Amino acid sequence: MNLTGAARIAGIMGWPVSQAFSPRLHGFWLNELGIDGALVPLPVKPEDFSTVVRGLMKAGFKGSSVTIPHKEAAFALAHTLDLAAHAAGAVNLLIFHEDGRIEGRNTDATGLAASLRENLGADFTRSKPAVLLGAGGAARAGVVALHDLGASEIRILNRTRSRAEQLAAALAKEVSPKLLVLDDSEWAKAASGSAIVIHTTSAGMKGAPSLSLNLSALPKDAAVCDIVYTPLETPLLRSARTAGLRTVDGLGMLMHQGVPAFEAFFGVRPTVTPALRAHLEEALRGR
Ligand SMILES: NC(=O)c1ccc[n+]([C@@H]2O[C@H](COP(=O)([O-])OP(=O)(O)OC[C@H]3O[C@@H](n4cnc5c(N)ncnc54)[C@H](OP(=O)(O)O)[C@@H]3O)[C@@H](O)[C@H]2O)c1
Repeated sequence: MNLTGAARIAGIMGWPVSQAFSPRLHGFWLNELGIDGALVPLPVKPEDFSTVVRGLMKAGFKGSSVTIPHKEAAFALAHTLDLAAHAAGAVNLLIFHEDGRIEGRNTDATGLAASLRENLGADFTRSKPAVLLGAGGAARAGVVALHDLGASEIRILNRTRSRAEQLAAALAKEVSPKLLVLDDSEWAKAASGSAIVIHTTSAGMKGAPSLSLNLSALPKDAAVCDIVYTPLETPLLRSARTAGLRTVDGLGMLMHQGVPAFEAFFGVRPTVTPALRAHLEEALRGR
């Protein structure tokens, strides 16, 4: 890195922020593209969030990525929001405009859709039903991604059914696929004829028990996507691979969600390449 006084600077705000992947992700692209710029990790306490945002704007930052626990505060602070941010009620990218406007976006949905397109092809879920496991923030991104990919119906299963019902009620009018809430006991019905299962719960993360599903209820040409990326091959993905199903891990979503942020901060659209994946896999192995 060789910064000049004219460098473009952006941040990643979180509390804590030491585990954030964005500096490594953006750092790879900055190096690769030879850009005079940096993405700085910013540990920001929740009570300081809006003060820090104002300070960053005054200091000429181009914007900031936003991670836990600031995504809702960023949503509240933004002057404009995209559909994915509306759907999620959360913002993970703040772009600071020269006229003082703060643009809020949520790039999780575009990241997931791009990863699914890359791994499975653009039409894999078009006009077909899909299963969505979970009803948190990432599940909302899953609904918008499946809308973008043209799915006909989204069958939502969540440990707490009422949360899935809230999600469906909030998003039914915003997206074109039909949203259907089912109980865990209706798994076979949900799986039947579905092109894909997208897992968005925290189950299966390092040390946490995994969801146990009878994958034989899925069509033989179905795919399973797990957005959890620690470990990279979750127990669910291992079972899917063993069952001969296509699999998509969570690293693709992570890489692709950074593309619009990098473009907004540094003015160049970067690409997701095998070299980038190898660079991030190395970091994941060290965790
Ligand atoms: N790859 C990426 O780029 C990317 C991006 C965003 C998030 N993620 C990952 O996605 C996961 C979820 O994130 P989030 O922001 O949606 O979290 P969240 O809003 O806290 O939601 C958590 C979800 O997991 C469910 N859950 C938690 N523990 C469970 C268990 N033991 N059994 C069954 N369900 C369980 C919750 O069900 P209840 O409603 O019943 O509590 C809820 O649906 C995290 O692992 C996160 O790292 C990955």
